[in-house]
Amino acid sequence: MNSAAATPVSLAATDTAARHPAATRAWTRSAIGTVQAESNRSADTHLYKVELPEKWGLDLYVKDESCHRTGSLKHRLARSLFLFALVNGWINEGTTVVEASSGSTAVSEAYFAHLLGLDFVAVMTRSTSPEKIALIEQFGGRCHFVDKADEVYSAAADIAAQCDGHYMDQFTYAERATDWRGNNNIAESIFSQLGHERFPEPSWVVVGAGTGGTSATIGRYIRYHGHDTQLLVVDPEGSAFYPAWKNHDPETVTGTSSRIEGIGRPRVEPSFVPGVIDAMSVIPDAASVAAMMHFSELTGMHAGPSTGTNLWGVWQLVAQMVARGEKGSIVTLMCDGGERYAGSYNNPDWLSERGLDPAPHLAAINNFFAGGPWQG
Ligand SMILES: Cc1ncc(COP(=O)(O)O)c(C=O)c1O
Repeated sequence: MNSAAATPVSLAATDTAARHPAATRAWTRSAIGTVQAESNRSADTHLYKVELPEKWGLDLYVKDESCHRTGSLKHRLARSLFLFALVNGWINEGTTVVEASSGSTAVSEAYFAHLLGLDFVAVMTRSTSPEKIALIEQFGGRCHFVDKADEVYSAAADIAAQCDGHYMDQFTYAERATDWRGNNNIAESIFSQLGHERFPEPSWVVVGAGTGGTSATIGRYIRYHGHDTQLLVVDPEGSAFYPAWKNHDPETVTGTSSRIEGIGRPRVEPSFVPGVIDAMSVIPDAASVAAMMHFSELTGMHAGPSTGTNLWGVWQLVAQMVARGEKGSIVTLMCDGGERYAGSYNNPDWLSERGLDPAPHLAAINNFFAGGPWQG
């Protein structure tokens, strides 16, 4: 008989039994099995090639994360966070799960909580799109609203404390819960799907940051596997990430709520890893909306505004590479689908009420595609 099995009985039987009764361990084992079965049933997301003017000599690929069951890149994160919390003993049978989210993560976590028969409470700002709120409730979640983006953390922690629940805290654990070495993370998927392309090692990957987990995972994977690929992180107006990265100041606080759902934060989140980022660019919010609109014209695919932020960053990069005569490929993410923003970013009245005029930026992209200089 091995020494490990004997120890609990001989040393402190009652204490050990109290902490993790056999029933709890059995529930945890079946819960992990349920999450892994969901993963096994799920196919990988597509990597689409976007046709660009031939003379540029560049290839652009978009990783479509909107085709996950819960409609965004956050499906991967929610799965990792639940497995991380289960193996840590933070979630057990009957635990209410609470999360602070801009909406996408809450939709995905509501889905996994429902799979495990757990109650779920999402804490978000009142401005979150009604479509996302409906999706959370459709997956059995309950929504709790606060006025400002920087109020979500304490509100979520309070609710979890009041109901003896678990605050999942994506902003802290996103970078820890995701395996950056591989294990079919988003980076491994991208590089394997580029295997048969003319430029299989992309010159650049372009993503935004909400928790910072996606950019941390991709940046770490690139370095761990010794790729020359560089990582550009785009940031919306007023976010703390760009000034923090530029000034090497993780204490940076802007207090400004982002106008591009899912990315940009009023403070630097714990999962933001500036050391893996090669370049950053602040993207005007109206330009993000314009690039989102241009993408649907160019490809027929309807994405959300944070994808627009990515694409404006891509066109800036393309203009620089064309000017330098560089050849290669660029990869970016379609973070979620446009159907979630029918009442907001795809509604001209909603845009004008917020002073967001995409027209001049749309003209700049169309002029560039027509062979003119980039004036973005
Ligand atoms: C639509 C959307 N795009 C991009 C992101 C950024 O992802 P990450 O949190 O991994 O930085 C988020 C994060 O919530 C999001 O909801």
